[in-house]
Amino acid sequence: MAHKIAVIAGDGIGPEVLTEGVKVLNCISQLDSNIQFDFTHFPWGCEFYSQTGKMMDDDGIEQLSQFDAIFLGAVGYPGVPDHISLWGLLLAIRKNFEQYVNVRPVKLLKGAPCPIKGKTEKDIDMIFIRENSEGEYSGTGSWLFKNKPHEVVIQDSVFSRVGCERIIRYAFELARKQNKSVTSISKSNALNYSMVFWDQIFNEVKADYPDVKTTTYLVDAAAMLMVTHPERFEVVVTSNLFGDILTDLGAAISGGMGLAAGANLNPERQYPSMFEPIHGSAPDIAGKQLANPLATLWSASQLLEFFGHKQWAKHLIEAIEYLLVEKTTLTPDLGGNAKTAQVGDAIVKYLIDHYAK
Ligand code: NAI
Ligand code: MG
Repeated sequence: MAHKIAVIAGDGIGPEVLTEGVKVLNCISQLDSNIQFDFTHFPWGCEFYSQTGKMMDDDGIEQLSQFDAIFLGAVGYPGVPDHISLWGLLLAIRKNFEQYVNVRPVKLLKGAPCPIKGKTEKDIDMIFIRENSEGEYSGTGSWLFKNKPHEVVIQDSVFSRVGCERIIRYAFELARKQNKSVTSISKSNALNYSMVFWDQIFNEVKADYPDVKTTTYLVDAAAMLMVTHPERFEVVVTSNLFGDILTDLGAAISGGMGLAAGANLNPERQYPSMFEPIHGSAPDIAGKQLANPLATLWSASQLLEFFGHKQWAKHLIEAIEYLLVEKTTLTPDLGGNAKTAQVGDAIVKYLIDHYAK
């Protein structure tokens, strides 16, 4: 049966990178008769907002609920406040579909540039499990006495027992399966409610996994150690905000924003999961075929894995590594002069050359 995929290309470089994502998935479906995709494109994003005053249709969530997965480019564009574009689409999807796990690999692929002297693929091989449904991005708070001299804003962080436990358990299950350690990142010295609670739940869950090695760091120290001792991190579990920030740092040490991928998972599969590069819409390079589509292709690999096509997920990463090592077809962010579409074409060629029956 075909996997029904909702494609939301979004803004800026979103459509350019997603075109390559769909191209590569279509190639795989042509090479393997057991895999079929049924893509439906949605025109939602900032342009849609400027025409309708909404980031997506009123019944957008209901429409998307009919799909097996969502493949997203990026949202956000000058002219629409970022909190409107982010909440109106991306965060609405993550929350409504209980995509409480954000899986973000921070892995130095073969051939990818690393700014840290002396570190290799063996040293930078982490997988971030970021809490994706509550925490600092709960979206609740208040704005009192607006525009008065005594104006006050309160932004709430929400840490529920269920929310903390399920994400921490997910990290332990993954670590056990892959025979890796779990590192928890918090800030319980300063955040004396939320992060003390996080640490407590971490210790409770940890008791169920005596076979898994664990480490805990405060987030500030973790930021330093990711640069000085990246080899210490394997499976990493952390809150929504910390995970957001640290995975951009992770991108910087493993090849840049053009290579960083993410999956927003609803592990129970009650709702569609969403796959996206972690970068934004990059208005500074949009529309010029300068964007690197490899992050999007890596998230396509995560999509393949999620649907159980593990071999193809691996082949796709292998194709990305081939391009990174060969260095003749890379976009400017990786020191090349190839266009976005040429990178997608080169991946397709690799897959056909190696895996056509
Ligand atoms: P950004 O990730 O769009 O860009 C940061 C820098 O990285 C820019 O110099 C950009 O040119 C470069 N870059 C990003 N992706 C690249 C790629 N694939 N290839 C080559 N270079 C790439 O972050 P920025 O500039 O902070 O945000 C721009 C807009 O994107 C804002 O409206 C923001 O709200 C939105 N945004 C959306 C996200 C999403 O949809 N998931 C995530 C982050 C930001
Ligand atoms: Mg981010």
